Amino acid sequence: MPIQEEARKGIIEICESHKNEPSPLMVVLEEIQKKYGYIPLEAQEVVSKEMNIPVAEIYGVVTFYNFFSLTPKGKYVIGVCLGTACYVKASQAVIDKFATVLGIKPGETTEDGLFTIEAIRCMGACALAPAVSVNGKVYPMLGVDGVVKVIDEYRQKEAALEAEEEA
Ligand code: FES
Repeated sequence: MPIQEEARKGIIEICESHKNEPSPLMVVLEEIQKKYGYIPLEAQEVVSKEMNIPVAEIYGVVTFYNFFSLTPKGKYVIGVCLGTACYVKASQAVIDKFATVLGIKPGETTEDGLFTIEAIRCMGACALAPAVSVNGKVYPMLGVDGVVKVIDEYRQKEAALEAEEEA
């Protein structure tokens, strides 16, 4: 998918503002991820041209760190912790349940762009295992039975926002 001209200009600006730093690539990619929510191949090509760094190197960095994303994420990013403490409390079943209810696999986004499911590592809330976070809000001890309730909370939030916009 071609990136918009405006996004291209924004990426060039980010590159220019860090060009002369000693190792600017991570900072540039972080800023692009933060501003646009993902770093598609086309954006990597712009960075490659501007920074004179091979696309393969940039692609390697983007795919190595899981806080970079090649595809747009949903409005609500559901992170299910698969760290040891959560895993032994059956967090695999929790992520499977999210996947079943939303009809997507971990790493994917629902067609309406609302939800992304991610398998995450320990988020430092082991005492609350199995822990789930949605856009940073932690849901402690969230078993399989709590999954639908969490999804409903955000669907209702969306419905309320839509109703507000229509009013
Ligand atoms: S292992 Fe899940 S929060 Fe630590």
